[in-house]
Amino acid sequence: MDHAAKSPLTARRAGALKGRARVPGDKSISHRALIFGALTVGETRISGLLEGEDVLNTAKAMRALGATVERVAEGQWRVHGVGVGGFRAPEGVLDFGNSGTGCRLVMGAVAGCPVTATFDGDASLRTRPMKRILDPLELIGAHALSVTDGGRLPLTLAGARDPIPIVYRTPVPSAQIKSAVLLAGLAAPGETTVVENEASRDHTERLLKHFGAEVRVEAEGAHGRKITLRGESELAPAPVVVPADPSSAAFPMVAALLAPGSDVILTDVMTNPLRTGLIVTLREMGADIEALDLRSDGGEEMADLRVRASALRGVEVPASRAPSMIDEYPVLAVAASFAQGPTVMRGLKELRVKESDRLAAVAAGLAANGVEVEIEGDDLIVNGKGRVPGGGAVTTHMDHRIAMAFLVMGLASEQPVRVDDAAIIATSFPGFSALICGLGAELS
Ligand code: S3P
Repeated sequence: MDHAAKSPLTARRAGALKGRARVPGDKSISHRALIFGALTVGETRISGLLEGEDVLNTAKAMRALGATVERVAEGQWRVHGVGVGGFRAPEGVLDFGNSGTGCRLVMGAVAGCPVTATFDGDASLRTRPMKRILDPLELIGAHALSVTDGGRLPLTLAGARDPIPIVYRTPVPSAQIKSAVLLAGLAAPGETTVVENEASRDHTERLLKHFGAEVRVEAEGAHGRKITLRGESELAPAPVVVPADPSSAAFPMVAALLAPGSDVILTDVMTNPLRTGLIVTLREMGADIEALDLRSDGGEEMADLRVRASALRGVEVPASRAPSMIDEYPVLAVAASFAQGPTVMRGLKELRVKESDRLAAVAAGLAANGVEVEIEGDDLIVNGKGRVPGGGAVTTHMDHRIAMAFLVMGLASEQPVRVDDAAIIATSFPGFSALICGLGAELS
């Protein structure tokens, strides 16, 4: 989709939010289900797939690399894979649009196959660092034939003819780096090991096991993990049920906490502990969030979350919690703006290299709406006063989560909040406006 055509949107204070809603499927699992399905011999059925632009670009890439990927009905997809190491050389450029996850995971999968592919993306993705992925993939035996500005897209990657199993310690906690190495390691003989000092989301490990791979996970230090994969074995097809995305649920959740009188149930939300840092933090702030009907399906836990409007207080969020809520800081900063007292969010360096420089974009958006905010090194400090004047115009910088976070702000601030582009929301949360308006919000 062409995001040159911007579509501004304004949120204004309405009444309480009420009702039940299911946000779309988890983005991380949706990308992985398509990629693992494509590396499997046989048919993988996926239900609840997120049909956002990011994931649709991964589906296109899997087709270009030789897999058969079909949409059967809404959220229902079928993938016929080519087997580990079985990708064919794509004819055109693989365009991942706005998606770092799609691009980096597919780089890993291509690195383990003897094919050459060119990776590209939109203006936002072209600014994001790829050297962090190329470094371990080159150790495995892949080569970057061309790369822009020392590590940006577009880049051309030649996969390894004889992939080498490696032991790799990730320089930053990143599920994308970990997953790229493990995907390349699938085709290597012997054991590929990734060591991370802070555990990042573990959907790749869970899905690898679900598809029959031999994976060992051990503790590493206080917060880390060591993941070992035995390569050169085929993956067996397995159905994947995609739960609702906690990173998307975060927006109606915070909206319901902030709009007085709200009482909302968000159904089927994944509650994998490596994704629930926002819920932990909001509860510490005084949020009334109740998990109902905890259950598990296809290797992931989920629950229905009942969220009631709550008075929030500022808290300190430790750096060690960042990996479990890395995508939730924009909306947490909005919640913190309505809290009483300062919220200090520590260790947010990685926010600078997301779809936008989120540290800068969040601070600018808060300031434009009359919130006291400071960046100190890698920490974000929001001085909550229990109320937000609003009335500001927010620049989204091609970042879906900046757009959604500030629309949530406008649902509770004194004056409306306008974002300059809501079209970008379709990358991760198609139907966002309809869902939130269905609960009683006003967007126009
Ligand atoms: C993701 C990992 C995170 C996250 C992204 C999705 C994934 O990125 O921000 O939205 O699915 O692996 P990093 O691994 O770079 O932290």
